[in-house]
Amino acid sequence: MTAELQNISASNAERFAETIAGVIDQGAVAVSLSLGHRTGLFDTMAEMAPAGSLEIATAAGLAERYVREWLAVMVTGGIVDFDPETLRYNLPVERAACLTRGAALGNLAVYAQHVALMGEMQDRTIACFETGEGTGYGDYPCFHQIMAEDSGQTVAEALFDHVLPLAGGIEDRLADGIEVLDAGCGRGLALIEMAKRYPSSRFTGYDLCGDAIDWARAAARRLGLGNVTFETRDLTGFTEPGRFDFITSFDAIHDQKDPEALIRGLKASLKQGGTYLVQDIGGSAKLENNLDFPMASLLYAISLTHCTPVSIGQGGEGLGTMWGWETAEAMLCEAGFVEVDRHVLPHDPMNVWFVARI
Ligand SMILES: C[S@@+](CC[C@H](N)C(=O)[O-])C[C@H]1O[C@@H](n2cnc3c(N)ncnc32)[C@H](O)[C@@H]1O
Repeated sequence: MTAELQNISASNAERFAETIAGVIDQGAVAVSLSLGHRTGLFDTMAEMAPAGSLEIATAAGLAERYVREWLAVMVTGGIVDFDPETLRYNLPVERAACLTRGAALGNLAVYAQHVALMGEMQDRTIACFETGEGTGYGDYPCFHQIMAEDSGQTVAEALFDHVLPLAGGIEDRLADGIEVLDAGCGRGLALIEMAKRYPSSRFTGYDLCGDAIDWARAAARRLGLGNVTFETRDLTGFTEPGRFDFITSFDAIHDQKDPEALIRGLKASLKQGGTYLVQDIGGSAKLENNLDFPMASLLYAISLTHCTPVSIGQGGEGLGTMWGWETAEAMLCEAGFVEVDRHVLPHDPMNVWFVARI
């Protein structure tokens, strides 16, 4: 035992070391979950009876040696079952229910991609630590693909059953025909869903990133939607006075250069009687309040490697992912919205929703 260890509780230190070893082990499983999602291996296995690695690799169109090594991670990680007699692997139905595209419980493997992306960004993030500078969206391979898969589940899929009903009466107005803006629309999935459902309304999506906008435009074209327009646009200093009846932003305020100014600009862009519906991460502005917040470490780490540096990279202060519902609420009130209602959806405790009216 070293001199330092003699002065502390050795059993506490050993327990903590075991915890850390477990964290590292689970981190490796998380990155491998992302690989299983990106390669389609979970979807392939969910469709198959127990099978050998060659059969699985062939069905997935992948190289067997790599599939076998990935399967070993999945087996030791408790995700996939393995029969050493037959050398067959199986993804049980109740595990496929949260790891496959279109899964009954939502596809959790989608969120594992955030962990893999953090690893890819490590060198760039270290440079941020050293210089205090930020990043640009172009630094992140696949950010918009991951984000669209993420919000496709949390926002677009919940839109008609849970989200729009928060803004009492908006569905009727959408059916009658109104002007709608989604500010920071990314790949535009939420807007596309609304444009499909409400052909009498006109929908506009603005986002800084041309690659996300190109993707959204192509998707709208494929669907033959004539009532939705996507435009690459930096929302810094944005205002189109009195143009819109309904404005949404989904997880798109805290990354901005100047979130407060954008909220003011969005308010000014509403017509009289207009509604602003905004979703953001539902954590508190105070670290001590987030100790039991779901997946708080993941959210702070996404903040560290993405949300904070992209805001700083735009010349912003870098509010971060956990800027807090208190900060968002205060900004909405200070912008002059007369009514600001806060909601948390029972099935989705990670997000906060505000309905603000002028
Ligand atoms: C976390 S993503 C959310 C995207 C989308 N709303 C969704 O839910 O999938 C934040 C979005 O804000 C956009 N954004 C960040 N800064 C912006 C700016 N200055 N002007 C316009 N869009 C911006 C990013 O390009 C990104 O698509």
